[in-house]
Amino acid sequence: MYSRLKIFTGNANKTLSAEVAKFAGTPLSEAEVFKFSNDNTFVKINENVRGADCYIIQPTCRPVNDNLMELLIMVDALKRASAERVNCVIPYFAYARSDKKDQPRVPITAKLVADLITTAGADRVIALDLHSDQIQGFFNIPVDHLTSQPIFARYFRDNLDLKNTVVVSPDSGGTHRARELAARLNCTLAIGDKRRVANEDKAEILNIIGDVTDKNALLFDDIIDTGGSIIRIANTLKKKGAKKVYAACSHGILSGKAIENLDNSPIEKLFVTDSIPLTTEQKKCKKIVQLSIAELLAIVIKKIHINESISILFR
Ligand code: R5P
Repeated sequence: MYSRLKIFTGNANKTLSAEVAKFAGTPLSEAEVFKFSNDNTFVKINENVRGADCYIIQPTCRPVNDNLMELLIMVDALKRASAERVNCVIPYFAYARSDKKDQPRVPITAKLVADLITTAGADRVIALDLHSDQIQGFFNIPVDHLTSQPIFARYFRDNLDLKNTVVVSPDSGGTHRARELAARLNCTLAIGDKRRVANEDKAEILNIIGDVTDKNALLFDDIIDTGGSIIRIANTLKKKGAKKVYAACSHGILSGKAIENLDNSPIEKLFVTDSIPLTTEQKKCKKIVQLSIAELLAIVIKKIHINESISILFR
């Protein structure tokens, strides 16, 4: 058991960090994290952390490289200040889609980022809905890989009519994720046959495997970035006779024209977590509903702090 629990935040998602601290019943610990005019990031821990169990909440959302550097420098600062254990809480892990060498002469950036975090001195990573499970193995330190599925499932049971609903994975890679949600909601499953155009953000939906005619469709993915995949499949679902189309994802990046395209799409509502903060423009979009992971993270932090199992949280 570690004597003192301390929760720190970088600049990536201060609202989420404040909520987590509130649920954990402890104020956020004091640190200065800012950039000098020469673009160098600076961190100063403003309280004693000797022997403390420290948690840094920092999704590596946009600006990705700045937020990643903040995280690395915060880990370094805490270790040099004699923190006993430094835990990186990374609810959204950027570069996760670069997790394999699927073309000649491309990097595996997710592995590189894992190495950077480990080398900085992190003792543990707490992640949420990683793009692929193998990313856990990129780290040589413990990774607690959380899922937002119970949060989504609870919300959908309370707010959607699930009687005639099919959960749809936009591609074969996300099937296990969608299948798990379908089981939680007692719904059927369908899968999109998606092909990505090499070196482009664009995806092409070729077909839908499964019955969607006269059913409400609930698309489920880990990430919505440009929105291309989800909107194309929503259009295909409509053509195949689906009634209402909803979409949900853990990490709403919503880059480029995602909001404009979402507004003009047949998607009724898009459910996202607050792993990534919404921009002012995104907050104005009436189709977006944000569900909070703050309580989940607070419970996990408190359990890890006292070395308790967290597997009950996945049920
Ligand atoms: C891909 O494998 C992911 O699960 C998402 O489907 C994809 O990253 C979404 O990207 P976009 O919104 O740009 O199509």
